[in-house]
Amino acid sequence: MDSQEIRQRFLKFFEERGHKIVPSSSLVPTDPSVLLTTAGMQQFKPYFVGQKDPMADFGSKNTVSVQKSFRTSDIDEVGDETHLTYFEMLGNFSFGGYFKKEAIAYGYEFITKEMGLTIDYVSVFEGDAEVPADTESEEIWKSLGITKIEKFGRKDNFWGPTGAEGPCGPTTEIYVRGVEVWNIVFNEYYMKPDKSLEPLKQKGVDTGMGLDRLAVMVQDKKNVFETDLFEFIFKKIEENTPEKDQRSKRIIADHIRASVFMISDGIVPSNTDRGYILRRLIRRITHPDKSQIPIAETVIESYGNFYQELKTKKILILEEIKKEEDKFRETLYSGLKQFEKGVDPFILHTTYGFPFDLTKDLSRKAGKSIDEKDFEEKFKKHQEISRAGAEKKFGGHGIVEGDLTASSPEELKIKTRLHTATHLLNAALHKVLGDEVSQRGSDITVERTRFDFVFGRKLTDEEIKKVEDLVNEAILANYPVKIETMPLEEAKKSGALYFYKGNFPEMVKVYSIGPSLDSGSPSGRPFSREICGGPHVSSTGEIGRFKITKEESSSAGIRRIRATVE
Ligand code: GLY
Repeated sequence: MDSQEIRQRFLKFFEERGHKIVPSSSLVPTDPSVLLTTAGMQQFKPYFVGQKDPMADFGSKNTVSVQKSFRTSDIDEVGDETHLTYFEMLGNFSFGGYFKKEAIAYGYEFITKEMGLTIDYVSVFEGDAEVPADTESEEIWKSLGITKIEKFGRKDNFWGPTGAEGPCGPTTEIYVRGVEVWNIVFNEYYMKPDKSLEPLKQKGVDTGMGLDRLAVMVQDKKNVFETDLFEFIFKKIEENTPEKDQRSKRIIADHIRASVFMISDGIVPSNTDRGYILRRLIRRITHPDKSQIPIAETVIESYGNFYQELKTKKILILEEIKKEEDKFRETLYSGLKQFEKGVDPFILHTTYGFPFDLTKDLSRKAGKSIDEKDFEEKFKKHQEISRAGAEKKFGGHGIVEGDLTASSPEELKIKTRLHTATHLLNAALHKVLGDEVSQRGSDITVERTRFDFVFGRKLTDEEIKKVEDLVNEAILANYPVKIETMPLEEAKKSGALYFYKGNFPEMVKVYSIGPSLDSGSPSGRPFSREICGGPHVSSTGEIGRFKITKEESSSAGIRRIRATVE
C-alpha cells in the first residue's frame, strides 16, 4: 500500500463515518504565538473552544485532515532513523460530536482492519493532582480486546496546548511494533498562559498520526527513508550528489522536502523566525558545487499530485532555493579562503557556517590532519549554550533578556550576536579614532546594529575599513567573553566603556573581550571592556562576519554607523 493510498483510505474512512474532509492549513499558522504549524488541531482551535461553529463552516461537528506539519524541536536529530522536521499528520477531530468511545473504536478499526496492523499495546493517562486517571479509556480498550495497557503521566499522556494557551487534555496512544503511531487527545480543558486548567464547555477529540511512521509499519520497512515517501528522493540524491554517507543523504532528503513545502506556503529565507529556520535548512544541505535543485524538482513532481500548490508554485520554489544556495556558496568561498589560511575548524563552522565535514574532506585531500576531538568538544559546549538560550521562555509577548528584547529564541540569538559585535565596534572606533569617540546611542534589530557616537567629521574609507578589519580580527581570534560583577565606581575606574546616559545600578556587569595581561596582551587591556546588561555570545567566533553598511551624520557632531553580521 503506497502512501497515497494510505492518505485516501484515511480520509475516506472518516468521511464514511460522518467527518467532513478539510484541506491542510498553511505551515504558517494564524496563531501569532506559534512559529509554524505543528499539529492538525491548530487550525481547529476556534472550534474546540466554541468560538466558531463547525456546523456553519463544515456542516458537521467532525472533521478529518492530512495536515502539513513542521517541528523544530528535532532539527538537530535529523539524520538518524526516526527524526524528521517536516511531516504529514493524519487526524480526525470532533467538536462536541463524539468522544472517547467512538474515537477509540475508530482508531482500533482503522489500524487493525483498514491497515491490517497489530496493536502491540496502548497507553492511557494515569492521573495526577489536577486531572483524574482516564479509567474510561482503559475500559473501552479492554472491551475491544486490548489487554496490554500502559499508564503514563503528564509528560507522555497529556497533550499541552500549542502556543501560549489553548485546548488540551489526556491522551491515549496506540503502539505498533513498539512505536507510537497514533495519539488520540481528549480535549476537556483549556490551559491558560499561567498553565492553570479550566474545563472546556464542550468536549472534543483531536488525533494525530504521522503518515511517515504509519507508512513504515504498513510497508513493513525499517525506517521512514525506506518508505515510498522518501524512496524516490533518495534515488535522486544518489544520482545527483556525490554524498555517500547515509546520514547526509537523510538530512538532504528531509531538509529539501521541508524547504519545498515551506516556500510553497510563502516562507522565504531570512534572518528571522520562520525565514531563519528555512535558511538553516537550505544552508545545511548546500553543496559547494552541486545544486540540490534536481532533488527539489523530484519532491515537487511527486508530492504535487496530492499538494497541487507545489506544482503551481514550482518556479518560485526553485528560484528561492537557488538564490539561497548561491548566497551561501559565496559564504563558503570566503570560508575556503580562511581554511587555506589555517583558521580553526570550529571558527570556520560558527563564523562562516563552513561545514565541518567539508573541512575534514578538504584537509584529507590536502594531506593535513585536523583535531576532530577538539572540534567536537568546542561544538558540544557551543550547543549546550545555544540550547540553554533556546529554552528561555518564549511567550506570545516575546523574550526580554538583559538589554535585548526579541520575539523568538532565534531572533534573540541573532540580536545577541549583533550586541557583542556592537561592543567590538565601539572598541575598534576608540582604537582607530581615539578617545574623542563617545557612545551616544545604539539600537539593534534582527537585521543590523546602529551605533551613534561623538566625532567631529565624516570617517574616511580607510578608517571605516580599518574599524571593520579590527572587528573581524577579534571575531576570528574567537576571544571568550568574560563577565564580572563589580561596584559601578570600580568598573568605571577599570577603564570599562559605558554609555553616559545609562542608568546603572550600584553593582554592574562588566563584559571583557579579548586578551588581558594574564594572557600576554602587551597593553594588558582586553580588546573591549564595557559596562552592560548583556546578553552576549560566549566567544566572538559565534558572531559571524561583520560588515559596516553605512556611515553618516546623525546630528551635529554625532556620527551614525550601521553594521550587519552574516
Ligand atoms: N494533536 C495531537 C497530536 O499532534 O498528536
